[in-house]
Amino acid sequence: MRVVSGIQPTGNLHLGNYLGAIRNWVRMQDEMEEANRAQAAEGGSAAKKLNECLFFLADLHAISQPHVPAELKAATLEMTAALVACGIDPRRSVLFNQAQVPAHAELQWLLSGTARMGWLGRMTQWKDKAGKNREGQSVALFSYPVLQAADVLLYQATHVPVGEDQKQHLELARDIAQKFNNDFASEDSPVFTLPEPIIPPGAARIMSLRDGTAKMSKSDPSEMSRINLSDDADEIMRKVRKAKTDPEPLPSEAAGLDGRPEALNLVTIYAALAGQSVEAVLGEHGGQGFGAFKPALGELMVEVLAPIATRFNELRHDRESLDAILVRGASKAREWAAPTLSAAYNALGLVRP
Ligand code: TRP
Repeated sequence: MRVVSGIQPTGNLHLGNYLGAIRNWVRMQDEMEEANRAQAAEGGSAAKKLNECLFFLADLHAISQPHVPAELKAATLEMTAALVACGIDPRRSVLFNQAQVPAHAELQWLLSGTARMGWLGRMTQWKDKAGKNREGQSVALFSYPVLQAADVLLYQATHVPVGEDQKQHLELARDIAQKFNNDFASEDSPVFTLPEPIIPPGAARIMSLRDGTAKMSKSDPSEMSRINLSDDADEIMRKVRKAKTDPEPLPSEAAGLDGRPEALNLVTIYAALAGQSVEAVLGEHGGQGFGAFKPALGELMVEVLAPIATRFNELRHDRESLDAILVRGASKAREWAAPTLSAAYNALGLVRP
């Protein structure tokens, strides 16, 4: 298996980011490690290819919409620190930012001859982001999914962990790969592998601590609405204590959370952090009031997040270490990308030395 995934760099990382994409990446990394160990134990590891993970900051994607250059740079470094703090190990996974690997932009152009306007025009993310003002959007926003296809095809990705909202972009990547292989490669030596999306089952949607109907967000003006990855234990406990709730005790079954968005959110967070189902959490805590449940939630949160916050706060301002991580990752990524990029140039009849 070759696992490849990207994330757009944003600043002010919070619990929602962790329980969304990041934790899932860490799981994939650990599973691949496990698989490699099992494979080695069976013997014959020299002959078999190892399972690998590549994770990158999609900084090239970030310029498809208006942005502030200094903020993009800061966010790219901050996101790198967060990924490492959360458990992405740059020695076991290849961790890099796209901008240091020119092959992404190159392959995007090569694939632009294959991708069709109609395919891109049907992308729901394009339609949502462009809204009524399509003419005013950047070309990059429209061709965003072609860059995303290049991101994964470049490394012969077999599996791509993404959220539900990115499934359509992955299907497009498969269509592009298929058409390119059909048009420019022979059947027995395709240029690209068709990647499989992996959508984590039941990825938790984490909502604001002040409003159970709004997503937890870095742009919410209230600091009390989110748990930041940089928060220390006192801040976490204080925010959980002040989280909005209702006066009822917790129900003992999930149906009892209907119409109680704040209660649902706190139970969802607990379940995600404990690696349990909502039903299991209610089985244990049903009947409790928030006076009892909140401290339990706060303690669990501190247990999981405090070590992350410590590493994150150490690393986020350590520019030298962050640069070193990204330089090393990018150099590996460039090496791994080279054969496929060459094959794509060749297949198209482009003359290169
Ligand atoms: N578009 C993805 C998102 O917004 C990020 C991304 C860019 C990505 N390139 C990718 C994800 C390649 C998976 C594979 O979440």
